[in-house]
Amino acid sequence: MRRTNTCGELTKKNVGKKVVLDGWTQSRRDHGGLIFIDLRDRHGLTQIVFDPSHNKETHKMAEHIGREFVLEINGKIRDRKTGMINPNMKTGEIEVLVDELSILNKSETPPIEIDDNKEANEETRLKYRYLDLRRPAMQKRIALRHKIVTTARDYFNKHDFIEITTPMLVKSTPEGARDYVVPSRVNPGDFYALPQSPQLYKQLLMIAGFDRYYQTAICLRDEDLRADRQPEHMQFDFEMSFVTGDDIREFVEGLYKHLFKEVLNIKLDKFPVLSYKESMERFGTDKPDIRFGLELTDITDIAKKSDFSVFKSAETVKCINPEKDLSRKELDNYIDFCQKNGAKGMAWMRVSAKGLESSVVKYFSDNIQKELLKKTNAKPGSILMFIADKKKKAFEVLNLLRIKLKDDLNLVKENDFKFCWVNDFPLFAWSETGERWEPEHHMFTNPKKEFVKDFEKRPGEVIGDLWDLVLNGTEVGSGSIRISSPELQERIMRFIGMSKEEANKKFGFLLEAYKYGGPVHGGMGLGLDRTVALMAGLNDIREIIAFPKNKSAQCPMDGSPSDVDEIQLKELHIKSTFLKKKK
Ligand code: AMO
Ligand code: AMP
Repeated sequence: MRRTNTCGELTKKNVGKKVVLDGWTQSRRDHGGLIFIDLRDRHGLTQIVFDPSHNKETHKMAEHIGREFVLEINGKIRDRKTGMINPNMKTGEIEVLVDELSILNKSETPPIEIDDNKEANEETRLKYRYLDLRRPAMQKRIALRHKIVTTARDYFNKHDFIEITTPMLVKSTPEGARDYVVPSRVNPGDFYALPQSPQLYKQLLMIAGFDRYYQTAICLRDEDLRADRQPEHMQFDFEMSFVTGDDIREFVEGLYKHLFKEVLNIKLDKFPVLSYKESMERFGTDKPDIRFGLELTDITDIAKKSDFSVFKSAETVKCINPEKDLSRKELDNYIDFCQKNGAKGMAWMRVSAKGLESSVVKYFSDNIQKELLKKTNAKPGSILMFIADKKKKAFEVLNLLRIKLKDDLNLVKENDFKFCWVNDFPLFAWSETGERWEPEHHMFTNPKKEFVKDFEKRPGEVIGDLWDLVLNGTEVGSGSIRISSPELQERIMRFIGMSKEEANKKFGFLLEAYKYGGPVHGGMGLGLDRTVALMAGLNDIREIIAFPKNKSAQCPMDGSPSDVDEIQLKELHIKSTFLKKKK
């Protein structure tokens, strides 16, 4: 070991001690003879002092030190002079008077500041990620991620799970998103896929009798990116045998309660359970943010009795009440917002002590107005905001409006974490583009028992044994009880339009495996990046990934994705038909 201490730990207690410190130069200040440097490592900053009357030679060397030079110093700890004490720093009461200095490495002027208060634009941050990661905020985030991962791992281990690594080169099988494919040199013309998740392998591990498996799994999906979506993300992926959905949810609830207690010292309440239908009706989404109210009220039946043609003819009419009055200008802005998000309009009624007021109230008789007030439980000094549309559109717009009202009215507190379960999802969704039924989650999900006999006859009604875990309006996990009967699996595949040949070609190995006795089993994939980001109080998962991709799925630092040599392509028998513009 070269150093005796880190830069973040020395205090008054250590005064008089001789130390060796290593670190980066955060800043250098020349003060009439004395030179002060803040030396930085991941643990903090320590002020070191070069005094020409103490050591002329080191002081001379220190004159040429620039930002981010890497230093090793020998010196003695002393009290800082009164007036120089920094009460905001752990090491703020001391400094090190330098005896010896080695400049381990110089640095060019860094293209970005290593300073949390001076954040560069994202592209530059990603290009010089190793410098961006030097910032204390980033060091803290990556360390938080580590703590969350190790704490979760301990929890899985304590609950008898075995960590098993599944392959990265797998068979290309449809699982929702597009696959990244990898050509095989040894098997010309054939391709592997990178796993979208370890789904099939964990099912095989249950057939193999491992009972409880987990893994911090890298999942690769070629999809369009968003703030909470990366081409490669990580999941706490796990599977359990001989369990019900309740058992799995109870385990996960325990896991998250443990994580929040250990890592953030926050005690979580019991996670409420909402059915998919309830969640859609009350919040307009299957990812409800339950930190605040503003729930939706369905007034379709009442609206039908009015003379307002827009409402009478609509499939659904729902309203939201911000529980406060809004000005005409504010209302116009919300109308604009709704229309930009695809609504035909947004009608509103002001609730006063006298009753309802707005230009559309005339279409509603006194009795209907009374019914409206009763149903919405609206109090004077508030506003009813209505969307009439097809169900899907009305839900979508009202969900967005509800979130916008939350932001505009500041309805959530910092450090408030509200989980909920959403279960009883439909097993199938009708695809307008494909004109067929598709699995809502993935095709390995068991229908609830009562639908097994005749799901083909009433696909729209079938409820699957599948659920999501939602935290503050973000889906952090998804899971289900799997189909363990090969006959049922084949029926589902046939129903979603997969021929026997196609099913055998793509999933033959899985169907065959279940012929040798599969246990009843289920599990979940918990979004690790989303969990960490939310626990760090952030929305963008790139902030808690050491080397993320940018919005175009590129890495500005290493330049990937990029050309490969002709010779590499030749070995793989691959010829690109894409003509690139010369850079
Ligand atoms: P699913 O596809 O729902 O399920 O993924 C599980 C969880 O992973 C997170 N997630 C992502 N995070 C960041 N970037 C992405 N591109 C991304 N995609 C998903 C989400 C999501 O809830 N094999 C199944 C799980 C199972 O049934 O066991 C699966 O992967 O938080
Ligand atoms: P119009 O008759 O188009 O002038 O609309 C009268 C009011 O109804 C306006 O305030 C519109 O914003 C509103 N409106 C129009 N279409 C809808 C709709 N689909 N849902 C809710 N309000 C609407």
